Amino acid sequence: MNIALIGSGGREHAICQKIHESKLTKKIICIPGNAGTKNIAENLEIDISNFNKIYKAIKIFKIDLVIVGPEEPLVKGLVNFLETKKVKVFGPNKVASRLEGSKAFMKKLCKKYNIPTAKFKICRNKKEVKNFLEKISLPIVVKADGLAAGKGVTICKNKKQVLKISEEIFKGKFKSSKKLVLEEFIQGEEASYFLIVDKYTFKFFGTAQDHKRVKENDKGPNTGGMGAYSPASIISKTIEKKIIKKIVKPTIFALRKAKNPYRGFLYVGLMIRNNEPYLIEFNVRMGDPECQVILPRLKSDFLKVIIYAVNNNLDKINIDWKKEKSMTIVLCSKGYPGVYKKNREIKNLDRLNLDKKSFVFHAGTKIIKDRLVSNGGRVLNITSTGNNFYKIRKKIINLISMINWKYGFFRKDIGWKIINKK
Ligand code: AMP
Ligand code: GLY
Repeated sequence: MNIALIGSGGREHAICQKIHESKLTKKIICIPGNAGTKNIAENLEIDISNFNKIYKAIKIFKIDLVIVGPEEPLVKGLVNFLETKKVKVFGPNKVASRLEGSKAFMKKLCKKYNIPTAKFKICRNKKEVKNFLEKISLPIVVKADGLAAGKGVTICKNKKQVLKISEEIFKGKFKSSKKLVLEEFIQGEEASYFLIVDKYTFKFFGTAQDHKRVKENDKGPNTGGMGAYSPASIISKTIEKKIIKKIVKPTIFALRKAKNPYRGFLYVGLMIRNNEPYLIEFNVRMGDPECQVILPRLKSDFLKVIIYAVNNNLDKINIDWKKEKSMTIVLCSKGYPGVYKKNREIKNLDRLNLDKKSFVFHAGTKIIKDRLVSNGGRVLNITSTGNNFYKIRKKIINLISMINWKYGFFRKDIGWKIINKK
């Protein structure tokens, strides 16, 4: 089969690698891809918001199946666009993607179906914000309604800050929406639960724990994710049952009932408090960097699983997982998530003698005149699998020290909550 993969992050390199390993694959094109995907696929420099151009490439390259990595084209309706043109595509449609594309939509659905989540209020003006502030104790979480590239959530310790952030959102700081959601702050432990979903059924697709803050000990501003590990041991069998019963099933049934059945990966972002799961967010795609730790643990043929899901046959396939654990550490450009420089050469990747259990997934990288250079905030994901998180982390840090990229930094404490416990 000829596959087109949309996106250019570490997530897409990890997906591309799995598709490359499948016997069912003939050719892969990545739109636009990165320097890592370039080694195993053909990269096409096309703007992913230009659906017509994507479609033209799909025709030229005789693509049989399109897999969409990031949220933005999903929320903008790429799946609907391609389906009307009779192209097979894996990912949720525009309405189903509102689970991630609009926090207000997601919260209203929670309210209607009694899904456990933080108490909230959707606000369109200052008066509504002030009214809610009277009723709820601090801290309060302010969330921009629409997509905000990971920058739309602020945990506020005082009312003044809530009002300031709210004002900015009402004035249009985020182009996607001028609404916001105010939320009760839930104290607990975060974890992410993944599913692959088709029209009729859904299957487990791994658990992971991301590290969103830029600095060690979970300090500093939020990022897209500085590292992750899988599985997330906090999700016990009992908690998993509650996640399915109280969160996943009502959501999937609601979308089916509204004649917009969900199909794609579903990322359930959770806070676990007193053994109870609370829904923090839905994402309509795999996580980045969570995908980079989940896919190396997948035993089944990834592409085969996707084909079964696209054809609504998920109930007819078993998805098998390795017992091994997995971790990734993200090597970032100095300055990220603030201002950072691009086009800094990365010289030593060839020196890494990777064994079968270790991977370098590229994110913000590109090739200029045969030289590998940085092209974003998150640059490389160094992933390794094994039986012991402490040893896996040590191995990854050793690999990063061999890269010795002077323009980069990384967190040495990924997995600190579970590693320090043992
Ligand atoms: P989100 O984009 O909704 O995942 O929010 C980003 C981060 O903010 C989450 O990963 C949590 O760490 C934190 N967060 C969001 N909502 C809440 C909440 N209601 N209570 C506590 N922390 C939250
Ligand atoms: N790592 C968080 C996300 O993919 O949204």
